[in-house]
Amino acid sequence: SKIGVIFDLDGVIVDTAKYHYLAWKNLADSLDFEFTEAHNELLKGVSRVRSLEILLDIGKVQLSEQKKQEILISKNEEYLGYIMKMNTDEILPGAEKLLNTLDDLGVNYVLGSASKNAELILKQVGLYHRFFGIVDGNAVSKAKPDPEVFLIGAKKLNLLPESCIVFEDAIAGIEAANKANMTSVGIGDKETLKEADFNFNSLIEIPEDFFSRFLSEKIK
Ligand code: G6P
Ligand code: MG
Repeated sequence: SKIGVIFDLDGVIVDTAKYHYLAWKNLADSLDFEFTEAHNELLKGVSRVRSLEILLDIGKVQLSEQKKQEILISKNEEYLGYIMKMNTDEILPGAEKLLNTLDDLGVNYVLGSASKNAELILKQVGLYHRFFGIVDGNAVSKAKPDPEVFLIGAKKLNLLPESCIVFEDAIAGIEAANKANMTSVGIGDKETLKEADFNFNSLIEIPEDFFSRFLSEKIK
């Protein structure tokens, strides 16, 4: 197909953003500083290590390297506890329908996620086998907003970046897609994701014919 789609995972396909938030919030509580949902926006799409750095900056807390390593492990253990309880109910509204539409159109799609738990999560919700390829936090060396994850995704799709459409819920992810010269679609608050080429509150709102214009004209 002449176009391809790259999906972010957390907050686009599944609602794991709330579990990341819970785990980071518990950490902030234990370190005795405020961590709001607005702060959490800064962590979305950002690697685990970088998330901790941002979080500690917010709390103006300094910790030893060893303590940080311990925290990263315990944060992930708490997060995995939530993940292991996930099932198909936690696929976000509109996601499966969208994948069906792409299948019908013969448009390939890959995952482009910063998460090192991406495979596990997709398997938990039964969507793993549907993706043409997976690019996750284990495959990249530079985290979003660096475009690396999406550029590897385009390679997997065997397409030029300008033929790829990226679905993202994170500020860092939209920035990465734009830097990669891809079409960026922001899923979530329009004000937060104002740099996106297109905005929708959720995948449900994507019109039936959204992809047809990309298929009939060269995009970007
Ligand atoms: C996603 C989430 C981030 C998370 C990152 C790493 O991009 O939006 O909030 O920090 O993945 O996830 P991981 O599962 O490797 O901790
Ligand atoms: Mg996300």
